[in-house]
Amino acid sequence: FFIGVDLGTSAVKLLLMDENGKIHKIVSKEYPLYFPHPGWSEQKPEDWFEQSMAGLKELTAECDKSQIKGISFGGQMHGLVALDKDDEVIRPAILWNDGRTGKQVEYLNDTIGKEKLSKYTANIAFAGFTAPKILWMKENEPDNFAKITKVMLPKDYLAYKLSGSFCTEYSDASGTLLLDVEHKCWSKEMTEICGITEEQLPKLYESWEPVGCLKPEVAEELGLPAGVKVIAGAGDNAAAAVGTATVGDGGCNISLGTSGTLFISSEKFGVDENNALHSFAHADGNYHLMGCMLSAASCNKWWMDEILKTTDYAGEQSGITGLGENHVYYLPYLMGERSPHNDPDARAAFIGMSMDTSREDMTLAVLEGVAFGLRDSLEVARSIGVNPQRTKICGGGAKSPLWRKIIANVMNMKVDIIESEEGPGYGAAILAAVGCGVYSSVEEAAKKLVKVVKTEEPEEELVQKYEEKYQKFRRFYPVLKGMF
Ligand code: XUL
Repeated sequence: FFIGVDLGTSAVKLLLMDENGKIHKIVSKEYPLYFPHPGWSEQKPEDWFEQSMAGLKELTAECDKSQIKGISFGGQMHGLVALDKDDEVIRPAILWNDGRTGKQVEYLNDTIGKEKLSKYTANIAFAGFTAPKILWMKENEPDNFAKITKVMLPKDYLAYKLSGSFCTEYSDASGTLLLDVEHKCWSKEMTEICGITEEQLPKLYESWEPVGCLKPEVAEELGLPAGVKVIAGAGDNAAAAVGTATVGDGGCNISLGTSGTLFISSEKFGVDENNALHSFAHADGNYHLMGCMLSAASCNKWWMDEILKTTDYAGEQSGITGLGENHVYYLPYLMGERSPHNDPDARAAFIGMSMDTSREDMTLAVLEGVAFGLRDSLEVARSIGVNPQRTKICGGGAKSPLWRKIIANVMNMKVDIIESEEGPGYGAAILAAVGCGVYSSVEEAAKKLVKVVKTEEPEEELVQKYEEKYQKFRRFYPVLKGMF
């Protein structure tokens, strides 16, 4: 058996897979998310570890533990985890959707300059990336900054606690703005700019490489064999791409989780002219381009939980008809926006209501607004000649047939639905299987194990209607920019 751990923003999801790719059990454990100031977003690494350990115990409770060979991870990206000399967490982790670093991003992009950043790392600064957070700590919490002995990413903290190995891998390291993505090494220029040294950064691996084994005391606590291998893993989007077989050249995956991402795999390294898309390393040894929306399924969750006060998401969507006819628009910027606007101060908005606007119209507008946000990233890809015709889909939002249909038509792409929408967890388990030698490459394993069960086809008439609506949608943000 192989264990895939998806260290998410709302919960850690753990999954048990056999070597034929069959999922035997899934366990989920939640932990709190803190918003100590408007636009800030933090979690406690200790909570991640505690809940992961509880999840591992539950996951393996009934299985033959001696058959467990490896464990790997897909982790929320970019989070700054800082440990002191005694390996204690210095402050809560600053997460991928945290918007506090406006000033540091401006310094990096405007004073250091986007051209240099792009040369050093293949990317420019965005508020959620790790490097601006290090600068923020240096400026705002100098005592904490002085204590930093180790900097790591969220899932690397789990690997460290489980195996004792201070490690990361290229896909997640790409999102730090400290990695020279093209050459796959830490950037000397960037460590200098951030006032840290390479000794404070983890050792780099490929995603499928073993970084060690479970520490004896951890194995004992979990009742697992001491030889269980710990495999480096990947950032959750690269792991999700493995879990949907978006590997090799020209694959596309959309993830509808707390964030929303458009992920395009590529054998060649490349950047778009304005660095509007992230240019990162992939977990299969190749590269990828990615657009990331900060609020995707979380827009729907907010609308259902906080505003409509319902738990019946499917019921709310079941009465919806008239796709392409909605006169209400929704801008999905509840936490600011990353791709393509790079604006932590942007905020969400409903536009175009009238006296006959219904609850269903507004629910539909939320789903459409997220699809339009993803389309914004697709437009950037298309502008550099990357034009995928079909995509896989995963994440909690991918469970909704209505949302999948909207996405197929807004993007004008065929949407392939996978047997399991557990993208990052499934991808992590596949990485573990590769790391344990069951498959010879990530590409081989993913292509063999991942099964498409259905395809959502775009419909010409609806594509046309959504094209007109999208052209209006894209005009709203520039008008509202700077007013929030
Ligand atoms: C990607 C990003 C998010 C998180 C979500 O750049 O910030 O997709 O990885 O966990």
